[in-house]
Amino acid sequence: MMTRKLGSFTSAPVGLGCMNLSHAYGVPPSEKEAGELLNNALDLGYNLLDTAALYGFGHNEELLGKFVKARRSEFVLASKCGMFRNAEGVREINGHPDMIRQTCEDSLRRLQTDVIDLYYLHRWDKNVPIEESVGALSDLVAEGKIRDIGLSEISADTLRKAHAVHPIAAVQTEYSLWTRNPEIAVLDACADLGVTFVAFSPLARAFLAGKLRDVSLLAEKDLRRNMPRFYPQNYARNLQLLDQVAVVAEQENCSLAQLALAWVLGRSDNIVAIPGTTNLNHLEENFSAGAISLSDEAFTRLDQIINQHTVVGGRYNDVTQAEIDTEEFA
Ligand SMILES: NC(=O)c1ccc[n+]([C@@H]2O[C@H](COP(=O)([O-])OP(=O)(O)OC[C@H]3O[C@@H](n4cnc5c(N)ncnc54)[C@H](OP(=O)(O)O)[C@@H]3O)[C@@H](O)[C@H]2O)c1
Repeated sequence: MMTRKLGSFTSAPVGLGCMNLSHAYGVPPSEKEAGELLNNALDLGYNLLDTAALYGFGHNEELLGKFVKARRSEFVLASKCGMFRNAEGVREINGHPDMIRQTCEDSLRRLQTDVIDLYYLHRWDKNVPIEESVGALSDLVAEGKIRDIGLSEISADTLRKAHAVHPIAAVQTEYSLWTRNPEIAVLDACADLGVTFVAFSPLARAFLAGKLRDVSLLAEKDLRRNMPRFYPQNYARNLQLLDQVAVVAEQENCSLAQLALAWVLGRSDNIVAIPGTTNLNHLEENFSAGAISLSDEAFTRLDQIINQHTVVGGRYNDVTQAEIDTEEFA
């Protein structure tokens, strides 16, 4: 199997994002179905599982502890701190060292493991200097509770400050044909510092896979309802771009989802993609995209069709946008 470097580990080019086994899009699968999907993923060769304290407010980490604990040596376990459910039961971003330590202890317990391989700061808490949060993570490495440190949705400047405190193994940020922000500076900074780039939502939260045509059917609590690109009028215009992307997929002899994943992976050897799915067929289809190389013509054509100038609507609403640090296009 082809592998890519992921910090001090190696991973298949495609890892599994586990978030939507607990929340985010529509109704999550039952625990039994989630357990089957996780085990199927490992059987297929997935060896990177990505979770977070936030997902399902702990439920997602519990799923991994319950269903794949016995296969712990078969995968790189990635989780995240700094964004979690607080004592009042609401989502909070908090990067204070004591809170990072507390979240790590909670995650280890839920995951039923002694060590987390790759532990990300899910969001930089802008009230806490990044050096302090990374310092706390560095202490956890020294104590053997985590192995590698990652950051999520941070700018190139913040990455460089953090890397000066402790080597950063990976940056996880949204990257896909319709979200090009890492191309502003973060991809270059990662290449420069030897940091792996982990692309989340590489299928544009289903848009690029082509099966979501009618956003009015999204469940009431579906996160995409609050994302401007998924607002009905914007989405209708974005679907027109997708119709052109479908022509390229046909020429490249792959599905739309595979085209989107092969595009992300083809941008650099330094990238790992972590699509999420609740569907066993999609699981297999996505994993096999790791072996697909697109033609130069496909890269050129896709860049022309879909980019920051042609996509309609921001990726986040104003509140969520204020929480991230990744560079924005002017
Ligand atoms: N660091 C962060 O802040 C952050 C934020 C968001 C996500 N993430 C991570 O990234 C992972 C993936 O992101 P994501 O789930 O938001 O987005 P994604 O992978 O771009 O899209 C997932 C959606 O695409 C659909 N899908 C997947 N494969 C498909 C296929 N082959 N054909 C048709 N539809 C397909 C899924 O539906 P089905 O279930 O029907 O397949 C699901 O609705 C998450 O699980 C999480 O680990 C991280």
